[in-house]
Amino acid sequence: MTKPTFVSERAWGIPPSGIRKFFDIAATMQDVISLGIGEPDFDTPEPIVQAGIVALQNGATHYTSNSGLLELREALAAHIADRYAVRYDPLQEVLVTVGVSEALYIAMAAVLDAGDEIIIADPCFVAYAPTAKMVNAVPVMVPTTPETEFQLTAEAIETAITPRTKAILLASPNNPTGAVTRREQLTQIADVAARHNLIVIADEIYDRLVYGTEHICFASLPGMRHRTIVLQGFSKSYAMTGWRVGYLAGPTELVWEIRKLHQYLIMSAPTASQWAALKALEVGDPYVEDMRAEYDRRRRLIVGGLNDLGMACTEPQGAFYAFPCVGQTGLDDNIFAEMLLQEEHVAVVPGRAFGAAGAGFVRMSYATAYEKIEVALERIARFVQRHRGF
Ligand SMILES: Cc1ncc(COP(=O)(O)O)c(C=O)c1O
Repeated sequence: MTKPTFVSERAWGIPPSGIRKFFDIAATMQDVISLGIGEPDFDTPEPIVQAGIVALQNGATHYTSNSGLLELREALAAHIADRYAVRYDPLQEVLVTVGVSEALYIAMAAVLDAGDEIIIADPCFVAYAPTAKMVNAVPVMVPTTPETEFQLTAEAIETAITPRTKAILLASPNNPTGAVTRREQLTQIADVAARHNLIVIADEIYDRLVYGTEHICFASLPGMRHRTIVLQGFSKSYAMTGWRVGYLAGPTELVWEIRKLHQYLIMSAPTASQWAALKALEVGDPYVEDMRAEYDRRRRLIVGGLNDLGMACTEPQGAFYAFPCVGQTGLDDNIFAEMLLQEEHVAVVPGRAFGAAGAGFVRMSYATAYEKIEVALERIARFVQRHRGF
């Protein structure tokens, strides 16, 4: 296909997300179990929904301050201080965004000039590399492997550094691998960031969804606060994807610049959603814990089930994804996903949709009911039996 006349090189150079294709096929079929979706299957907890409704009824139909409701920013600063012992000034250093998606874009746009390189673990969330390209920066993909449990290592980062490197994008817990980067590794990454004077954009959207391990806020590491932009959100932990609310926190001089971009791009995050988010911070903890415990139960089911089938699956310690290898079927990940959908009506996402290093793996989301995962495992077992040594 040739580029239509009026389309920019920038837009043309960005591929469509490899996830959607499978949803579109699955939507035309009966009886599909979807392990493809990257969002909680839970609805938003009722008190949070009510807070949004009441806010609308009480006239929350206007813009808020560009930075977001002050009440919410104060609660966010307190939340980050309580959980991670990092202090941010709610007036200057916290910005409420339209999900982490917007936060990613404005953070990159504020720190990266054309041609600047940003180091990103591969495989990763589908938006990272396109977002870097949207600001004319260069995503430098660093492969991660099951040998290091898909953790991005300081050594790998160091070998990717060039004179144009400006930033590291750290995603822990990671989508699609569920990898949680551990303290020792993060400390070494912090050392690399300091030695090479790099800024770290830390996507911590899954911070509350960790299993048997701790989430470490990158800004809490010694000497990192002034070179870190922390991105967190409500979509995953509180089952609030459709409300479109997230936030970022960082040093005053960076948030000042980021806020200008947010101001011209967005004005302010949805007002009723901000009131709902405030309620989430006030009453959400028990709900988050219930959902986390249920994800953990499903995680053990799916990871155990896949390994029993001979689909080697590194234990994911965060988020809600399993990322097994499809190698023993002799099929590549694209064909595996297509045939599994056609033959057994189970939707998964080919690993290469998340970057070249994802080839040979598929992402299976366990944000799906336990009983459905049980049936999906039976279907996958049948499929693998049929295609073993294809
Ligand atoms: C790692 C990661 N970051 C960011 C996002 C975007 O989240 P939000 O709904 O807050 O825009 C997602 C959504 O899948 C994600 O997996």
